[in-house]
Amino acid sequence: MHPSVFITRQIPDEGIKLLSTKKFKLDIYQKDQIIPRAELLKRVKGKDAIISLLTEQIDEEVLLAAGPRLQIVANYAVGFDNIDLSAAKKHRVTVTNTPSPELSEAVAEHAMALMLALARHIPEADAYTRAEKYQGWSPTLFLGTDLHDKTLGIIGLGRIGQALAIRAVNGFCMKCVYTNPNPNPAFEKTFHAKRLALTDLLKVSDFVSIHVPLLPTTRHLISSKELKLMKKTAFLVNTSRGPIIDETALLHALKSKRIAGAGLDVYECEPAIDCNIHDRLTLKKFPNTILTPHTASATIETRQAMSRLAAQNIIAVLTGKKPLTPAK
Ligand code: GLV
Ligand code: GLV
Repeated sequence: MHPSVFITRQIPDEGIKLLSTKKFKLDIYQKDQIIPRAELLKRVKGKDAIISLLTEQIDEEVLLAAGPRLQIVANYAVGFDNIDLSAAKKHRVTVTNTPSPELSEAVAEHAMALMLALARHIPEADAYTRAEKYQGWSPTLFLGTDLHDKTLGIIGLGRIGQALAIRAVNGFCMKCVYTNPNPNPAFEKTFHAKRLALTDLLKVSDFVSIHVPLLPTTRHLISSKELKLMKKTAFLVNTSRGPIIDETALLHALKSKRIAGAGLDVYECEPAIDCNIHDRLTLKKFPNTILTPHTASATIETRQAMSRLAAQNIIAVLTGKKPLTPAK
């Protein structure tokens, strides 16, 4: 019997083609929406492999619903905080993610785009120009700030953090400091970068960009105490996971002009932009926030690479080999 794979939503086709060439039986949830929980529990039954998205909670209930044939959950994302790893271990199910080189480049480019757009007021200036408010050149219209010679603080120097550093230092002549559990002397040498404690990084950085996974230890890593350490002129960028920033604290920091602005691709109560609106504070009302809908990896090249890698992980595990990129 050919192994069967459940895919929780249509994804770019390269991985699907790869699985088809191996004659795996594919069952794909076809509606272009997040799969309802009941449908997920029904459709995983008896499958050998699942490709899940970050929008699905893969917990013990799902693993039990799938049953004893299930060998691998290939998450179509680099982050895997949506998966209960200890339940997977208990049921001897391998979990993989998609840390492809393409993904690191795409997310770093998006973080860079948010930094540039914040520094130069691109969304506001675009809206102003479209509204035909432009009356002629002005010495002070939409005055921004340079990236050149400014300090970028990278929180988490993994693949994505390093890809951002390359762009910032080599491309935009920025200075770089970073936090990381382990030092990276080769990186420090190449990029004249310094590893700092988070509190020191926040004090010296003009741009702060977050590149850590969501873990119990990183939830609300940036809260009011940390925001108070930042320069008033500094920008905060988050392309990792929403709950790493205490959004209520961020709203108050923006309101009191504690920081200069924020570029966010992820939200604490995603897909809601605000967890709850109190004091009529919403991220949408600030002219110095730039908000994108969790699209940092959304390039054709990257989403195809993720599709291939998810499929390759499944093929490896279902043919008795080691997964290429186990989640760990
Ligand atoms: C996207 O957020 C991912 O984890 O790949
Ligand atoms: C700007 O357009 C300049 O010429 O300085």
